[in-house]
Amino acid sequence: MIVLGIESSCDETACAIVKQGTHILSNVVASQVDLHEQFGGVVPELACRRHIDAMLPVIHQALEEASITLNEVDLIAVAKGPGLIGALLLGINTAKALSLAIQKPFIGVNHIEAHLYAALMSHPSEKINFPCLGVVLSGGHTAIVLMRGIGCYELVGQTQDDAIGEAFDKVAKILELPYPGGPHIEALAAEGSTKSYPFKAGTLKNRPLDFSFSGLKTSVLYTIKGQNQKDAKLLSPREKKDVAASFQYTAFSDVIAKTVKAAEMHGCQTVVFGGGVTNNQTLRKMFAQAAPFLNCLWPSAGLSLDNAAMIAGLGYHIFQHQGHSDPFDLEAMTHIPFKKNEQSA
Ligand code: KG4
Ligand code: ZN
Repeated sequence: MIVLGIESSCDETACAIVKQGTHILSNVVASQVDLHEQFGGVVPELACRRHIDAMLPVIHQALEEASITLNEVDLIAVAKGPGLIGALLLGINTAKALSLAIQKPFIGVNHIEAHLYAALMSHPSEKINFPCLGVVLSGGHTAIVLMRGIGCYELVGQTQDDAIGEAFDKVAKILELPYPGGPHIEALAAEGSTKSYPFKAGTLKNRPLDFSFSGLKTSVLYTIKGQNQKDAKLLSPREKKDVAASFQYTAFSDVIAKTVKAAEMHGCQTVVFGGGVTNNQTLRKMFAQAAPFLNCLWPSAGLSLDNAAMIAGLGYHIFQHQGHSDPFDLEAMTHIPFKKNEQSA
């Protein structure tokens, strides 16, 4: 079965062709970084306009790179949410129109679940022992879920304020680094000392698996600009590297500690990772060192950041188990909460 996937939930316009849920024939992503970096973040209205321009060329390119025609596609899959409403509508309406035009079924999938599926499709021969843990680390979400199967997830912990990628982007802005900040912080941190600044990630009373990164970001701000923004000091290049390294180390140590705790509490040996921040190689190394007893499944290259291959892959899987959606019935969903796991609440 050949699935055409479409992703447009935020600032990437993407289309991919995937065979049998894991075999990627093409994976095209049109990034909008050039458009948004001057504003230091995504401007929703501009993102929508760029999606309009990019959508059809990206679909054509994906078909061409896969060497197939539209008529050879068996299923259209699209990200239905969570994300920016206008951006989602662009992708969903394109998918609906394609589905009606070629008379092929259509399915809407959850973008966050697709991030976790990205790691599963990166390890197609791995036999997953459910329940396992899913850890989503992206620009919009930070959550630990108990995965009882693909499509059956219970929330065990989530951020109460900033998402981890958002914290990276905000700290990058404070350090006057370009948007998106994650890769720039990672590069700078590689040359800094992790122990130079005693930053702390947030802990929440009676909620050991929840996250809070807003205080950590504010500590970085105060370190650099002073409490009243009056005592701002110019950091030397050396100090900037140390701030980046100490911030990154603090944020990742917190994610590792909470993941290990969640794995213990729920008796899981396997952890599936998803989201743009999992592209960070230091994070992967830190996990391997701190928790060698966990079987960590990371997305392969091209599948960490927003992409449509993960949408097509998850679309295939859901189609096999639940059938397709009615094109006229699917609405864009800006928020899709995970079911709560009572044991962890
Ligand atoms: O999953 P994603 O592409 O989009 C969302 O669904 O949010 O994640 C984007 C986020 C951005 O905040 C970006 O700064 C962060 O992922 N990111 C990184 C790295 N690469 C991207 N964060 C840390 N280290 C990286 N190497
Ligand atoms: Zn994403």
